[in-house]
Amino acid sequence: MQRRPIILWGDPRLAAPNAPVETFDKDLEALIEEMFETAWAAPGLGLAAPQIGVNLRLAVLDLSVGKDPDQKTVLANPEIIGQEGRVSMEEGCLSFPGLFTTFERPKSITVRAQDATGKWQEIEAEDLLAQALCHEIDHLNGTLLIDHIRGLKRTMFIRRVKKLQKTGAWG
Ligand code: NI
Repeated sequence: MQRRPIILWGDPRLAAPNAPVETFDKDLEALIEEMFETAWAAPGLGLAAPQIGVNLRLAVLDLSVGKDPDQKTVLANPEIIGQEGRVSMEEGCLSFPGLFTTFERPKSITVRAQDATGKWQEIEAEDLLAQALCHEIDHLNGTLLIDHIRGLKRTMFIRRVKKLQKTGAWG
């Protein structure tokens, strides 16, 4: 399986609309495997299709980063159907390499999504898994880390990106 280059913040494809996944075939399976390979190699806990320039409502998650096949989760056309509590956690993103910021997410969520075969499933998650699910679903709505932070925190974050870009450490 091939890995795909991960596109970084500033690329318009990260904010472009994402079309629903409608065809669950061999091509989709191949794309999903490439997304897992790309996430594992990064390494990262998950990857959304727009991050490799494919504007589909599709993401993969694997908190074990390739160690436990049971943790491979495919999210096609996911939606959050319930949420509870709030918790503040540090978060990073493969499209902001080397950067982290802290903001609030729901403590627990229920997600409805299709798997690689098109079968609908309900996923109940809390803490890290809930955070990761919210993060990937955000990507499918064109929302990035930076959209969750405001004011001085956001200004400082952008300054850190610019510094990395200047030193060539970005990407
Ligand atoms: Ni991300």
